[in-house]
Amino acid sequence: MRSLTPLFLGLWAVTGCQVIDTTEVIADPTAIVVSFDTGGADGVSFAMDIEPIFNHYCTGCHSGSGAPGGLDLTDYATIMQLGVVTPEDSEGSLLYQFVSQGTMPPTGSVTLTDAELAMIAAWIDAGAPDN
Ligand code: HEC
Repeated sequence: MRSLTPLFLGLWAVTGCQVIDTTEVIADPTAIVVSFDTGGADGVSFAMDIEPIFNHYCTGCHSGSGAPGGLDLTDYATIMQLGVVTPEDSEGSLLYQFVSQGTMPPTGSVTLTDAELAMIAAWIDAGAPDN
């Protein structure tokens, strides 16, 4: 997670020195939540890392029995049953293709951050565990 290094440094700077402007650091609360969960590249957790991303961007549409395409992103079993995630093959996974190409979420102005995309890819490439 090399791309998160500036965020860690930013958080360190904030706690170490009160005069630093914190607005940039707190501008994206999701990024802060994500940063605390990335101890190592192989430590991605579905519950701790992936679900918060889905909840932030996706489950406004993709939850419950009427979810688009039947894809309830609050439910691990449903995600895997639909085949939108191919374990150990992020590039071949429809879900990753959609978020990395900006197809999802479909609202145009909203796209996942590079760190969030990397997190999803790492989770899939680690076998997409229910952890
Ligand atoms: C504004 C509502 C909305 C949001 C937010 C949204 N989607 Fe979708 N999604 C849709 C619609 C509508 C479809 C098309 C369903 C269909 O064609 O049957 C779709 C389809 C999909 C599909 C294909 C499902 C399939 O079985 O073919 C995937 C994968 C997907 N979305 C992932 C995501 C992810 C991941 C996010 C969050 C990053 C997201 N979507 C956010 C509305 C949304």
